[in-house]
Amino acid sequence: MRKYFVLFAAALFQFIICSAQKKTIDQKVDSVLGLMTLDEKIGQMNQYNGDWDATGPITKDGDKQNQIRKGMLGSMLNVTGVEHTRTLQELAMQSRLKIPLLFGQDIIHGYRTIFPIPLAEACSWDTAAMRLSARIAATEAAAAGVHWTFAPMVDIARDPRWGRVMEGAGEDPFLGSVIAAARVKGFQGAGFGNVDALMACAKHFAAYGAAIGGRDYNSVDMSERTLLEIYLPPFRAAVDAGAATLMNSFNDLNGIPATGNKHLQRDFLKGQWKFKGFVVSDWGSIGEMINHGFAKDGYEAALEAVTAGSDMDMESRSYINNLSKLVKDGKIKMQLIDDAVRRILRKKFEMGLFDDPFRFCSKEREQQQWNNANNLAAEKMIAKKSIVLLKNDPPPGKAGMGLLPLSKQIRTIALIGPFIQAVRDNIGFWAYSWPDDSSRIVSQFQGIKNKVSSNTKLLYAKGCEINDSSQAGFAEAINVARQADVVIMSVGEASDWSGEAKSRSNLHLPGMQEELVKAIYATGKPVVVLMNAGRPLIFDWTADHVPAIIYTWWLGTKAGDAIADVLFGDYNPSGKLPISFPRTEGQIPIYYNYYHTGRPATSDSDRFFRSAYIDLSIYPKFPFGFGLSYTRFDYGNIQLSSASMRANQSIKATITVTNAGNYDGEETVQLYIQDLVGSVVRPVKELKGFQKVFLPKGQSKQVSFTIDVDKLKFYNSELKYLAEPGDFKIYIGTSSQNVKEAAFTLTQ
Ligand code: NOJ
Repeated sequence: MRKYFVLFAAALFQFIICSAQKKTIDQKVDSVLGLMTLDEKIGQMNQYNGDWDATGPITKDGDKQNQIRKGMLGSMLNVTGVEHTRTLQELAMQSRLKIPLLFGQDIIHGYRTIFPIPLAEACSWDTAAMRLSARIAATEAAAAGVHWTFAPMVDIARDPRWGRVMEGAGEDPFLGSVIAAARVKGFQGAGFGNVDALMACAKHFAAYGAAIGGRDYNSVDMSERTLLEIYLPPFRAAVDAGAATLMNSFNDLNGIPATGNKHLQRDFLKGQWKFKGFVVSDWGSIGEMINHGFAKDGYEAALEAVTAGSDMDMESRSYINNLSKLVKDGKIKMQLIDDAVRRILRKKFEMGLFDDPFRFCSKEREQQQWNNANNLAAEKMIAKKSIVLLKNDPPPGKAGMGLLPLSKQIRTIALIGPFIQAVRDNIGFWAYSWPDDSSRIVSQFQGIKNKVSSNTKLLYAKGCEINDSSQAGFAEAINVARQADVVIMSVGEASDWSGEAKSRSNLHLPGMQEELVKAIYATGKPVVVLMNAGRPLIFDWTADHVPAIIYTWWLGTKAGDAIADVLFGDYNPSGKLPISFPRTEGQIPIYYNYYHTGRPATSDSDRFFRSAYIDLSIYPKFPFGFGLSYTRFDYGNIQLSSASMRANQSIKATITVTNAGNYDGEETVQLYIQDLVGSVVRPVKELKGFQKVFLPKGQSKQVSFTIDVDKLKFYNSELKYLAEPGDFKIYIGTSSQNVKEAAFTLTQ
């Protein structure tokens, strides 16, 4: 009898296990939800910062550890490392329902291996490379116990005064969208359930990049059309690529803070776009609705935020302090809370944390990723692709070839400027510092030293600081330059001058740096300038005089080696700008896809009567899509497969690109389209495609783009997304300004 009972019990147990395993994630979520008290549900919607690395004001501690034990916390940010995350997760396992914590962190451009800042990487226009860097960052961070990155930042930015341009992909919605999707896929890898998959978080929803005056956290006032056409597409692309989460933003949009904005979060995101993940607020942004004057107190702020669709409260404690009362007062229905909690629990299930809350805590994996040579090699490859050659003229008084690339046999090179010997600067603003950084990060000086022949003598002088008024170092720098065959100068803005809360009104080279460039140029020596920055800077004198300029941005751990590869021709630069460079701050905002005006300026001589300035060119200093190579790419004429198409047809546009120079090289062939007449005014040009082609010198290749009706759609006068029959122009070329053109008609 006893034997039968044991058999029966075993079978029953097996049955329970099997049916639990067979349950879908949604069923599992519902079973957990059914066991939760209101307080435990609210706990899941609550996120605190760990005990270090704050990017905002930290709310009073309130005994975090006990709150975790009581199940009053769903997630923590800025907690990393296997040991630390394990300790906190163990506390969560002491809670009544043992719901695991999610650990989130700003893994913006690398964790241990630091990749180029996102704006730099966007210059590669290489989605596979960007996907790879996100993949590596995710693998390293996931091995250190992190589950979730607050990236990619997909805010379109047309104002380089805004310090956060460095975190995004620039000004264009098409390029921004493909990059957003690549980064999401890179972070999330082969899918949740894998121990190297990080949950992505597309941020900041929405329109944060259009802060008035380029001042971080400022208001945004924007037409619905601009929102739909320019600022939302990268978010939509991130959602379609499967982004697990979105973060909303600090700004108000047309008077409604994004955090409390139903139109954004309910109508678009969770409505039309059918987003199944969850939304986290930005740091304290729920509480900040009180500062906005949009909510009287935390009670109202929590009400507005949860109603609008903000599922998790980062660090403002508005939810933990007010949601329970709001439910009890009948202001918030339990369904709303349940919806938010379901979304959060679903991700925890998908990540496999309910199966094993410690699955991201492996000392062995953490160790393997800590000094991973393959990751560093990938970093160098991506850093090279991110570099943009802005100018390469012959040295003064000489004709013919550009000054670059330099010979490795040059006898004496003078290395001058405040960034030549810099170490930490090379990894930019959103990078973590590790104790051994100084031995891992390759400075520009070191990279050049690694590259040149043993006979080459390197002389060094700092010349000046980044930002002071002293010229005391000029004499030494001039003296060093006079002894050299070539001078390489490294100037720019400090690496912590771009990033969050790093808006600048003056984008010129700070301090005495441009004066130093002038002084060194006056020696008559050939000068190459490396420009270090997290945004487009203004350096007109340098751009107009110095023969060779390389925009290095901030390139990450192997910066110095990547720069040296370009300087000495081991890599032929291929980067293209994803953002327009203004001539002066007075041109801002500046972007290539502006609307037609009634008095379009077509040249600088038009300026008195047209949409232009009387005292300034209408053209940017360096346009969107621009970037030189050591070789020259010639474009043939565009061949169209047909001069007209119907909505259910497509046209093939083909162009022959020839590498007509002396180096093998890679070109980014860009396709722009213009709708000539619409029910609303249309931009002069919109990027609709691009292809990267590698061409050995002397070779040609036909590059084709398929133009279908989707490439012609826009939001019409009633904000319906469709294509209108009529005439279109196609532009194909090497930048937004240097293109060939053809025309076709979309018929009824
Ligand atoms: C505030 C920033 O705006 C956001 O981008 C970041 O993810 C959070 N702080 C967390 O650090």
